[in-house]
Amino acid sequence: MASLGVEAIWLTPFYASPMRDFGYDISDHCAVDPSFGTLEDFDALVAEAHRTGLRVILDFVPNHTSDQHPWFAESRASRESPRRDWYLWRDGNPPNNWISVFGGPAWTWDEATGQSYYHAYLAEQPDLNWRNPEVREAMFAVLRFWIARGVDGFRVDAMRQVLKDLSLRDNPAVEGWDGPRDVYASLRPEFTTDLDEVQEVVAALRRAIGDERLFMAEVTAPIPRLVRYYGAAGEGAHLPFNFHLIFADWDAAAIAALVEEYEAAVPDGAWPNWVLGNHDQPRVASRVGPRQARAAAMLLLTLRGTPTLYYGDEIGMEDVLVPPERVVDPDGRDPERSPMRWTGEPGAGFTSGEPWLPLGDPAVNVEAQEADPRSILALHRRLIALRGAREDLLTGSYETLQADGVLAYRRGTSTVVALNLTGAPRSAALSGEIVLDTGLARAGERPDRLQLAAGEGVILDA
Ligand code: NOJ
Repeated sequence: MASLGVEAIWLTPFYASPMRDFGYDISDHCAVDPSFGTLEDFDALVAEAHRTGLRVILDFVPNHTSDQHPWFAESRASRESPRRDWYLWRDGNPPNNWISVFGGPAWTWDEATGQSYYHAYLAEQPDLNWRNPEVREAMFAVLRFWIARGVDGFRVDAMRQVLKDLSLRDNPAVEGWDGPRDVYASLRPEFTTDLDEVQEVVAALRRAIGDERLFMAEVTAPIPRLVRYYGAAGEGAHLPFNFHLIFADWDAAAIAALVEEYEAAVPDGAWPNWVLGNHDQPRVASRVGPRQARAAAMLLLTLRGTPTLYYGDEIGMEDVLVPPERVVDPDGRDPERSPMRWTGEPGAGFTSGEPWLPLGDPAVNVEAQEADPRSILALHRRLIALRGAREDLLTGSYETLQADGVLAYRRGTSTVVALNLTGAPRSAALSGEIVLDTGLARAGERPDRLQLAAGEGVILDA
């Protein structure tokens, strides 16, 4: 990791969990699940990461716990339980029309106590009641536990969802929806996500996380709503994840328009960020194809702001085919979650046992790419090193350039990036000296008019 040049690693949840949602259903926030090791292993990992100059960011899951969490066991035990109000219990079966993100009613009826509890995700992931000060305090204690163990920041899960409408108003139907009724996308989640009061929880989390550590927030929202999560100065997330590249059409005009909209919306004094892939979305190399994956890497690592790279994307891993009998995720996300391919050997250098998901193409592995100076891994290293060394790329301004169907932009005073996102060769009225190209073969060329092969990108000194 350190040799790749990245400066921090974010670990998805490794806490004690029945793994119904692969760690996002936590039964003990302060324990390491035995399938991953022990707290001592965690401490050793942090120490080793810090020794090599890497910072460690943990996943913090405030919105829900596992139904196996002792808090929920107490809460469901009786209506009089002191922890009853730690979760969202309401009369009615169901109390309203809210639908779970994974499909089906977001309420599960509890026969014994005659009420329903709310769960934005699986029934095994009951939502906590963030309006209850005891819940907040208990969850802030979790943050303090990990802060005391030396972590450098948190990625906060499902940030938009932490508060829901108190009067349980029905979510409105999506106009023109003619698909099934029990699907999340059939309703506009107006009363279950992104309530104005969520900003107050964001501010409380910022105070709890502090300024010496990074606060990243998972927020899937249109840009004008997304940037609200930066909050007023010092009160919001440092980096509300910007997922928009994942959903953008792979097209120069569409991406230029997206970057401009986002650049214009990021508040003064706030820092942008970009994401091309994560454990919830098909991998970038599968979305845009192996050839465009290099251009995608150049885009991610040359836009203004902090990039987040999903493990395996640096070697061009694609989604794996998961046979029906090996499907484990409730939301169909197994293909992008296959283990890292370190080597071409049977366990991929990842395990000597049988991983719970199939391994991908043996030819795509770190070891093979280490030996190839033109591999996509080598490209990532060079891009990351160049970012670090070139002030224009780190802190320089962003300006879109008009370039004949090629996606082109200027960073700072003398850096121009040009990417051919099409499947055919393109030429553009751009000149300068090539500093880095996606094929790692053209550095030093000084074209008068730039020619780019399909999927090719260059960084010019211009
Ligand atoms: C977002 C996480 O990234 C996803 O993997 C998880 O299923 C949901 N939040 C629920 O925690």
